[in-house]
Amino acid sequence: MSNPLRSARDRRLPKVAGPCSMVLFGVTGDLARKKIMPAIYDLANRGFLPPGFGLVGFARREWADEDFAAVVHDAVREHARTPFREDVWQQLSEGIRFVAGDINDPAAYAELKTTVEDMDSRRGTMGNHAFYLSIPPGLFPVVITHLKDCGLTARTTDQWRRVVVEKPFGHDLASAQELDRVLSSAFTPDEIFRIDHYLGKETVQNILAVRFANAMFEPIWNNRYVDNVQITQAEDIGIGGRAGYYDGIGAARDVIQNHLLQLLALTAMEEPLSFQPREVRQEKEKVLSAITLPPDLDLHTSRGQYATGWQGGIPVLGFLDEEGIPPTSTTETFAALRVTIENRRWAGVPFYLRTGKRLGRRVTEVAVIFKKAPHLPFDDNAVGELSDNALVFRIQPDEGVTVRFGSKVPGTPSLELRDVTMDFQYGDSFVDTSPEAYERLILDVLLGEPPLFPNSAEVDLSWKILDPVLNHWASLGQPEQYASGGWGPASSYDMIARDGRVWRRP
Ligand code: BG6
Repeated sequence: MSNPLRSARDRRLPKVAGPCSMVLFGVTGDLARKKIMPAIYDLANRGFLPPGFGLVGFARREWADEDFAAVVHDAVREHARTPFREDVWQQLSEGIRFVAGDINDPAAYAELKTTVEDMDSRRGTMGNHAFYLSIPPGLFPVVITHLKDCGLTARTTDQWRRVVVEKPFGHDLASAQELDRVLSSAFTPDEIFRIDHYLGKETVQNILAVRFANAMFEPIWNNRYVDNVQITQAEDIGIGGRAGYYDGIGAARDVIQNHLLQLLALTAMEEPLSFQPREVRQEKEKVLSAITLPPDLDLHTSRGQYATGWQGGIPVLGFLDEEGIPPTSTTETFAALRVTIENRRWAGVPFYLRTGKRLGRRVTEVAVIFKKAPHLPFDDNAVGELSDNALVFRIQPDEGVTVRFGSKVPGTPSLELRDVTMDFQYGDSFVDTSPEAYERLILDVLLGEPPLFPNSAEVDLSWKILDPVLNHWASLGQPEQYASGGWGPASSYDMIARDGRVWRRP
C-alpha cells in the first residue's frame, strides 16, 4: 500500500531537468544578457540543470565557443541572483557552444544541426532540444522554416523539441493568429511555450494560492462585496534604449495585452478543477471571454505620453525627445481602461487597468476594493477618515499581501476610526528569496510543464479585448502629455471620477 506521507514529500522534491540543450537565438539582446543567461546559471547553481546541459548560441558574430562563453560569463557575473561559484560555472561552460551564421543562411542551420548532434553524443543531451527565439517576431518565420528544413524539428518518440517565444505575440488579433500559424507549422501546441514573465513571478502565482487555499476570501470575492478592482503596473523609468521596440507598440500592447490581462484572469477566474494546465487554462479562457469593454471608449479609456520634466529631482526627457522616437509619434506610454466581466460573480464590478512609464514609482499591484459596510453605527465625525476595505496583492517591489480595514484610534474618548493595515511580507515569513521569474519559466520549459505559459486561445482573447481600444486610439492622433513623476494624464483621473471613484495611490 502506498504511504500517503511519503508520496506527499516526494511531490515536494525539486524536479531537475533531464538531459537537454537550449539553442538561443538573439544572444546579443538585452533580455538574453540580463535575464536568460543569468537564469540558466542560477538554475545550474541551484542544482536544477542536468550535469550535461548544453547551451548553444546562434548569431551573426565571428565568435568561437570561448567568446560566447565569455559573454555568458559576464552576463552571469553582472546579473545572476545567486552567488558565483567557480565549480558550477566550470561545469556549465563546458557545455557552451556557438554557431556563427546568418539567420537566412541554410548552411548556418546545417552547422547548428551538427553542433546539436555533437552535443547529443558528447555531452549526452539525448536529442532533447529547446529553441529559444529571443528575437523580433518578424524573424520567426525565417528561423522556423530553416529549423524545419534542416531537420532540426524532427525527433524520435523518445526525444522532445520545444520552442520558446517572447511577447509581443503579434500586434493585433490577425497578426497573433498568423504568428501562431507559423509556430504551429513546425511545433505542436504542447511544444510551444509563450513567455509572459509575470506568470513566473512568485507573487503572481500566489494570487491563486491565497484565493483557493483559504476559506476566508472566496465568500466575499464577488459583486456582492467587491466594489471595484484596480490593477496597476507603474514604472518610474522611461523607455531607455528601447525606442526601436517600443515605438509603434506602446503601453497597452506592451503590458495590458499580456501582463495585466493575465493578472485580471487570475484574480477573477473560477476555481479550477485542479492545477493541471488544461483546467487552469480553461478557467482563464472563460473569464477572458466574459470581459466586455464599455460602449464609449472616449469616456472609459485613457492614454498619454510622458512629457519633459523632473523625476526624483533629476531632469528627464519627454517621450517625443527620446533618441529614436520621431517627434510625431502617437505611441502611448500610459494606458488605462475599464472593463467589466459579464458573469454572475462579477456583473457590475468595474476592473480598472493602468500601466505607464515615468510614473511616481515602480509598483505593480492588484487591489480588490470592497463595498462599504451596509450600515455604520458611528457618528459622521468618527468615520470621516475611513476609506474602503481593500485586499492588495503587492506583486512588486515590496512583495506581499495587505489587508486594509478600519480600526478604533486608541485613547480617544469618543469612537474614532481610522484605516489600518495587516501586512504579509515575503521577507518576514520565508527565508529564501524568491527566484527570478525567468528561472522558473526556463526550468518549466525544460521539464515540459506548461501551466504558466499562456496558450494561443488566451492570446487571441486578449487581442479581441484590446483591438477595439487600439483602433479607437489610432483614430485620435496625438496622445495627451503627462508630467513625469506623476500618476498619468488628466483623462485617467477623469475616467475613474466619472464612476465616482479614485485611483489608489500605491
Ligand atoms: C516587459 C515590458 O514585458 O515588462 C517592459 O516589455 C516593462 O516595457 C517590463 O518594463 C516590466 O517588467 P517588470 O518585471 O520589471 O515589472
